[in-house]
Amino acid sequence: MDAFDLFRKLGAGAKFDFKRFGKDAERFKVVRSQEKDVTDHYGIDFFGTGVTHGNQEQREEEEEKHEEEGDAGAGKRKRQDEEKTAKKKKEDTQAEGSIWQKSKGLKEGRDRDKTSMKRLQHLHQEKVNRVRTQHRINVHGCDVPDPVCTFSELQSEYGLNPRVLQNLSAAGLTVPTPIQMQAIPLMMHGRELLACAPTGSGKTLAFCLPLLTHLKQPANLGIRALVISPTRELASQTHRELVRLSEGVGFRVHILDKASMAARKCVPSSNNKSDILISTPNRLVFLLKQDALDLSSVEWLVVDESDKLFEDGRSGFRDQLAAVFQACSSPRVRRALYSATCAPDVEQWCRLNLDNLVSVNIGHRNSAVETVEQKLLFVGTENGKLLAVRDIIKKGFLPPMLVFVQSIDRARELFHELVYEGINVDIIHADRTQQQRDNVISSFRSGDIWVLICTALLARGIDFKGVNLVLNYDFPTSAVEYIHRIGRTGRAGRTGRAVTFFTEDDKPLLRSIANVIKQAGCPVPGYMVGFKKIHSNCYPLVGVVTNYSEQKHYIFLDCMV
Ligand SMILES: Nc1ncnc2c1ncn2[C@@H]1O[C@H](COP(=O)(O)OP(=O)(O)OP(=O)(O)O)[C@@H](O)[C@H]1O
Ligand SMILES: [Mg+2]
Repeated sequence: MDAFDLFRKLGAGAKFDFKRFGKDAERFKVVRSQEKDVTDHYGIDFFGTGVTHGNQEQREEEEEKHEEEGDAGAGKRKRQDEEKTAKKKKEDTQAEGSIWQKSKGLKEGRDRDKTSMKRLQHLHQEKVNRVRTQHRINVHGCDVPDPVCTFSELQSEYGLNPRVLQNLSAAGLTVPTPIQMQAIPLMMHGRELLACAPTGSGKTLAFCLPLLTHLKQPANLGIRALVISPTRELASQTHRELVRLSEGVGFRVHILDKASMAARKCVPSSNNKSDILISTPNRLVFLLKQDALDLSSVEWLVVDESDKLFEDGRSGFRDQLAAVFQACSSPRVRRALYSATCAPDVEQWCRLNLDNLVSVNIGHRNSAVETVEQKLLFVGTENGKLLAVRDIIKKGFLPPMLVFVQSIDRARELFHELVYEGINVDIIHADRTQQQRDNVISSFRSGDIWVLICTALLARGIDFKGVNLVLNYDFPTSAVEYIHRIGRTGRAGRTGRAVTFFTEDDKPLLRSIANVIKQAGCPVPGYMVGFKKIHSNCYPLVGVVTNYSEQKHYIFLDCMV
């Protein structure tokens, strides 16, 4: 409603007193002259409401006058009194009508205000939806805060420490990635979260920034934030990231490695000197069992690579994770689970155990990153693999290259085959000492090692900048493992290449991996996706194809053994 409309509503039924303001009426040409009978103009509808009672009222008044003039003799005073009362009544009724009109106008005004508020909210929601669609952010949950489009919004809206913001820009991080846009505000609001975003899309920062904001400043209150990672290499990478981000703020960020455990840095007496702790679950459980660690002050528990940590069985972490969850006994504890892939049992657990869960997915769930050019190469037999890898080396490749094999023994075998090829090659697996593993990682990062042969140890979360080629020398055991392995390249928007060797023996799993490749837009021969599905011991790979609308549409891509 504009001002004119409001004024018109409020003024509905108001009359212009021509007798009193006749001159003004004449001046503003509302009447032609004073001599002219003004009765006709009594009902001028100034505000276009169409409600004009003036003529009728004037007529009634004149009739009353006539009656007055015509009456004489006895009862004149009485009649006059009665007439006066009737006139007053009429005036009162008129006044009431005017008040009613006014309040009606106000109510309508309020209704219009409400409508325009709703319209504004609707426009705002449309804008938020546009941002989410543009960045392929899918959210499921109630009262989800708006995504942020800049890091500086985190300072103005959520009180991110300006020094952290400075550290971010010093690291060249200027614009948040889609997972950061949505997951950071959620965690800042203290919401429990299940986040799934492609490999190399910045999930680490998406949970590190809220932790630093939530903790505000160092305090001797015990461990207040705990990050769990499946491997020591990943824990150490996250530790480095947190130290870099919190530089100048003074947080005590610790990692549970062999040295710190030997020094018993995290025993209860020195617990208070740690704000954030990063660890693998087995080290935490080791200390918990010895009563050497107190996690009751933990306010934020982040599980990175959550689907890996939920894995059951001999090599799984599930039992250890359960012990850690139990040890984080504060009623204030909030939990956030991150991964590039999400298993249905993790989602189900979150739905049952997390408070008012929000799940965030970026793009299609459980899909390979689209910046990697993927290829399947038939190599016939085991011998064919060796010939094919030599061929790649002979033809020339752009290092660094990561070569994934299925076991420690196979890693050793391949290393012995390639070490005489005249290339800088090394090997990393769980049987090497911590010192050897650290040295290999830093040599690979610095470019001294061109080809690194590795097991699944490096498949999850490890961020080597600029890996140009991932070679799956041995076929991955599942589509999920494939997604994580090839995700070591094509990170943070860079491009990369992935080549996967396969033999006759790999046929059972070929279909599911071919589907992942196809889904990412890379060509695969039609016959591969036509192979029979495997149903044993599998869980569906699921892709959400709609966006933020509350409906969920799942595509069952395939099954994973
Ligand atoms: N906002 C940003 N702008 C530019 N680069 C970023 C941004 N956030 C993170 N990065 C960089 O992206 C790279 C990948 O980040 P990160 O390791 O967090 O990915 P991830 O999503 O955890 O991947 P994975 O699933 O493999 O663990 C890192 O080198 C990181 O520095
Ligand atoms: Mg990660």
